[in-house]
Amino acid sequence: MKLKSIDSVDNQDRLAKAIYNDLGQPLLNSGVELSDNMRERLKNKGISYVYVEDPLTDDIYVEDTINAKTRAKSLKTIQENFNTISDQMALGKSIDIDKLSPAFSHVVKDILTEIESNKEAVSMLSEVISFDSYVFHHSLNVTVYSLALGQKMGLNNSELHDLGLGAMLHDLGKMGVPLEVLNKSEKLTDEEFDLIKNHASVGFEMLRKSHTLSLLTAHCAFQHHERLDGSGYPRQLAGADIHYYAKIIGVADVFDAVTSNRIYRKAMLPHEGLELLYSGSGTLFEKELVDAFAKTVAIYPIGLQVKLSNGKEGIVAKVNSDLPSRPIIRIINDEDKQSIQEDLDLSDELNVTIVGCETVIDQYKNY
Ligand SMILES: [Fe+2]
Repeated sequence: MKLKSIDSVDNQDRLAKAIYNDLGQPLLNSGVELSDNMRERLKNKGISYVYVEDPLTDDIYVEDTINAKTRAKSLKTIQENFNTISDQMALGKSIDIDKLSPAFSHVVKDILTEIESNKEAVSMLSEVISFDSYVFHHSLNVTVYSLALGQKMGLNNSELHDLGLGAMLHDLGKMGVPLEVLNKSEKLTDEEFDLIKNHASVGFEMLRKSHTLSLLTAHCAFQHHERLDGSGYPRQLAGADIHYYAKIIGVADVFDAVTSNRIYRKAMLPHEGLELLYSGSGTLFEKELVDAFAKTVAIYPIGLQVKLSNGKEGIVAKVNSDLPSRPIIRIINDEDKQSIQEDLDLSDELNVTIVGCETVIDQYKNY
């Protein structure tokens, strides 16, 4: 199978992997030909990439980091509980987090179990995300990335559990911000921007009252927008004053935000998201966390079509878990655009690098 941007899919392309809706029900099954109509529907749902069948790579299959069933179950829990909180906030009622926390704790345990059993680099590229449910998907994705990064940094199980809860609830304060503001495509007014920025403190106030959650969880919500050099918010904390978990969540949060399709901008690919993190490495984010994150996520996801510095083109066939920036490439065209088929392991061929991804060129024209 091969990954294609939704804009470059044509009528002959057949879906190689089923696409599920928020509830885990198949929206489109594998094997269907993607008509204009279906492509339009997927685009409207905010999906950027699909896996299509491809004879040259039919032996390549992409496993999800989190299986569709766990993902759907986790999303349902997050969605229902966040909506309850949002309703209570709208009515001005006080929120009893302790009533809801066992459900969140369950989700963290489920995700941790899956991450532990799946040793591959984390890849969550082809998820259907409707714009209105972005916060729920984002909360789940940030939990997955934070737990995978926390595990790479050697945190123990109980630390990972607290980190996971902090990650899942980091944006809880956004439940008090109207969707029209969260999804606004035009420039935000100062008041609207302040309202959004306030979510860190609002989340903290809600979570710190809990008797069952660690106070650290509340601080994850409070501090996840603080940056190493003191340029973040709400308190402009810097360096060691920012808790380690909040630093982990900050990295995961930015990466998921920029690699997700939003109403106001298109998704970056993982290697671009990572470049953005690197541009802030040592100033906004801890260098060791960015370096470890680069080894945690599939920078070049399986199925992605790439151009190499030796002039050849190919498709990512396998991620080297020790070196995700140097995957194994199924070469499909040589330097003269003649079709060939051979596998090239970039972890052996250190003089060859990936210089571009063909699928995204059109997509970024209008950036
Ligand atoms: Fe946030």
